[in-house]
Amino acid sequence: MADLDQLLARIGAAADVQALEAERVAALGKQGAVTALLKSLGSMTAEARQSEGPRIHALRERVGEAIAARRAALEAAALERRLATETLDMTLPVGAGQEGSVHPVSQVMDELAEIFADLGFAVATGPEIEDDWRNFTALNIPESHPARAMHDTFYFPDRDAEGRRMLLRTHTSPVQIRTMQTQKPPLYIIAPGRTYRSDSDSTHTPMFHQVEGLVIDRGIHLGHLKWTLETFLKAFFERDDIVLRLRPSYFPFTEPSAEVDVGYTMVKGRRVLGGSDGWMELLGSGMVHPRVIAHCGLDPDEWQGFAFGCGIDRLAMLKYGMDDLRAFFDGDLRWLRHYGFSALDVPTLSGGVGA
Ligand code: PHE
Repeated sequence: MADLDQLLARIGAAADVQALEAERVAALGKQGAVTALLKSLGSMTAEARQSEGPRIHALRERVGEAIAARRAALEAAALERRLATETLDMTLPVGAGQEGSVHPVSQVMDELAEIFADLGFAVATGPEIEDDWRNFTALNIPESHPARAMHDTFYFPDRDAEGRRMLLRTHTSPVQIRTMQTQKPPLYIIAPGRTYRSDSDSTHTPMFHQVEGLVIDRGIHLGHLKWTLETFLKAFFERDDIVLRLRPSYFPFTEPSAEVDVGYTMVKGRRVLGGSDGWMELLGSGMVHPRVIAHCGLDPDEWQGFAFGCGIDRLAMLKYGMDDLRAFFDGDLRWLRHYGFSALDVPTLSGGVGA
């Protein structure tokens, strides 16, 4: 087919996607030249079809390939043009008139990282889809333990490929296990992140945020725990008159365990942290249970530590004065504009983490 070279030349020269499409229709469309050749096979003798068939199909193939190649070239060129002409000015100031803002939960997480970095803690993470060994068993919460029922756990219907029962982590404590399993002590970490429980009212949402703290070292005792929490809370609330009260409590993964209350003062009918007119419960803590340390392959006679877990949403509410937790996750722009932080408002200890 003498026309073939011309056809391929036209395809190769198509200036844009529309011109290419016109060539495709002219060749391969219902009334197209190549389609007509394919149709002509039907009226040929069996012999003619045997010699012409492969030739015509090969021709169709070449035309199809030429079109695909030209289309790819045109698209690549279009992308090149866009990349060359479209720009994003990264130096534009963020602020007035800007739509986005940093959610208070993200802001508090940044503040926590800043405060604890100053105390020598690294940030650790773990997956939100966890296995029940790390979420419960390794934390000294065996199968029959009532704490499993208390956690209102979201379980996955099927086991994973390794036969493990999977769930949405009910607390950040499995990150303790992951850290001890993968890193060599001494360990000083915090682990902020999302957690899940089947629970919903004005102070509970099915998804919420916790920060876990874990220290594993030699000769660690309750005094280290209390000093660390006191230092953290004074920096976080930016007040020197933060008073803690440790109340004996129970968690399967700590022994002894302490619930930590923080003193507050009534100011114009509102509870403000600081002083000690009254007490509010803020977080759970304790000395890491030797069995938990052993589950992670460490020798509890050599390594001791403390751990604590605290609701991040609660910290944000207390510090920035919101009173309905559900509004945190409604995505209401008015709320986000009011309570959101500027992207350039990076917390620093010297500037005041909540500045
Ligand atoms: N994981 C506990 C909870 O979610 C909190 C906690 C963490 C208590 C670490 C003690 C030590 O309630």
